[in-house]
Amino acid sequence: MAYPSQALLDKLATMLGPKGFTRDPADLAPWETDWRGRYHGKAAALLSPASAEEAAAIVRLCAAQAVQLVPQGGNTSMVGGATPDGSGSALIVSMRRLNRIRSLDAAAGVAVCEAGVILSDLHSAALAAGRRFPLSLGAKGSATIGGLVSTNAGGTQVLRFGPMRSLVLGIEAVLPDGSLFEGLAALKKDNRGYDLKQLLIGAEGTLGLVTAASLKLVPAIGERAVAWIGLKSAEAAMALLRRLEGALGDAVESFELVPRSALELVLRHVPGTRAPLAEPAPWNALVEAVSPAGMPAPKLHEALGGALEAGLVADAAIASSEAQAQDLWRLRDSISEAEKKDGPAAKHDISVAVEQMAGFMTEAAAAVEARFPGTRVNAFGHLGDGNVHFNVRAPEGAGADWVDGEGGAVSAYVHDLVTQAGGSISAEHGIGQMKLAELARLGDPARLGALRAIKRALDPANIMNPGKLVPPFDLAQDGLAQNHLPS
Ligand code: MLT
Ligand code: ZN
Repeated sequence: MAYPSQALLDKLATMLGPKGFTRDPADLAPWETDWRGRYHGKAAALLSPASAEEAAAIVRLCAAQAVQLVPQGGNTSMVGGATPDGSGSALIVSMRRLNRIRSLDAAAGVAVCEAGVILSDLHSAALAAGRRFPLSLGAKGSATIGGLVSTNAGGTQVLRFGPMRSLVLGIEAVLPDGSLFEGLAALKKDNRGYDLKQLLIGAEGTLGLVTAASLKLVPAIGERAVAWIGLKSAEAAMALLRRLEGALGDAVESFELVPRSALELVLRHVPGTRAPLAEPAPWNALVEAVSPAGMPAPKLHEALGGALEAGLVADAAIASSEAQAQDLWRLRDSISEAEKKDGPAAKHDISVAVEQMAGFMTEAAAAVEARFPGTRVNAFGHLGDGNVHFNVRAPEGAGADWVDGEGGAVSAYVHDLVTQAGGSISAEHGIGQMKLAELARLGDPARLGALRAIKRALDPANIMNPGKLVPPFDLAQDGLAQNHLPS
């Protein structure tokens, strides 16, 4: 770790101008803390390049002095992935000024977006051209394309279209030596060996600075059918999903699981929400089925009728207007916010094989609540992807310090259970700072060895987003505070 010299700071200030360089503590403050308020760092300056060439020049200058860079988009990481450490030596590189949609070809279904384009702006631009970008998540009003690429973001449409990894057709990025990788061509076939694009997706900025991406667009939605369905168990939810897929094929784009506890939190804490069903059900699924433009709405009604007769569905409400559909989605999208308002919780983002998830959730919830009396499991989310947010709420009356106290033991226990089931401790949100120690503890040696070898090969001076994703080798001796290169 090297502090930037005054000469380097002066050079950067001259090159980037007042719009692209600041050391004013008031300008820096919002970007030195993550949006959840769990990680607080310090940076020597905030750099905001306005072009890929400026970004490359920044990296070249900093690489020469081994000065560390922390890339940042909308600062919406769930795992502290864009927050610098507390030393004050790193420079934050904000990609927000690189916010042009360079091109949008509706016929080819490709949009070339710079890293700082906000997700909802891409949604609007695609819609205006009669297409859509099929990835959406709660933070769509602030999350940026560069961050979504770098974290391989998921969201609520992964069921049909996959995560970011399946939607990125090409990438432009500055590598840690300052060279510009110009890989934006949307090639369907390309067999030139290691796929650098896929390596950069999900790398959390540790292998380079993504400056732009070519993204896949799909046909715009014609009509959508949205339903809230009451169910007896998580297993019934899984059986319902398979049945709906059998009846409607890939028209089923979203299938989100909501336990009664999560719905109650939303109804309690989020103004203007109301219960979708007359009688609360122990489990609920929010389902969206979509038809392309010009095609009739998917027959969700009919498909649900069959499931009702088969005893899978306890009750259902089908939205009869766009406003009702939005109200149902709001119930789902407000769960995290409501949970936060209710009190402390240990948050997890886990996956196991899709068909195992329903059983895993039931067994793991019983095990956690028995081992940590008073805790309450609130597991919700992307059941059809085998990924749920298996959050564990603190016992009534616990203070915020619970999360770092007993909450830590709860997380270790949950992660042990997931690992024993052959699953992942981070299905969607990434590793960042938050799960670094757990990845080091539980990752299999071959995976960890390859991760470190790749990092060492591409970023030998460890300047790109240090202290994230790649656990140090000598964790036991050095702890996590030292952001040195894995040796
Ligand atoms: C979600 O699916 O709602 C988010 O990924 C989880 C969260 O906000 O905690
Ligand atoms: Zn999620």
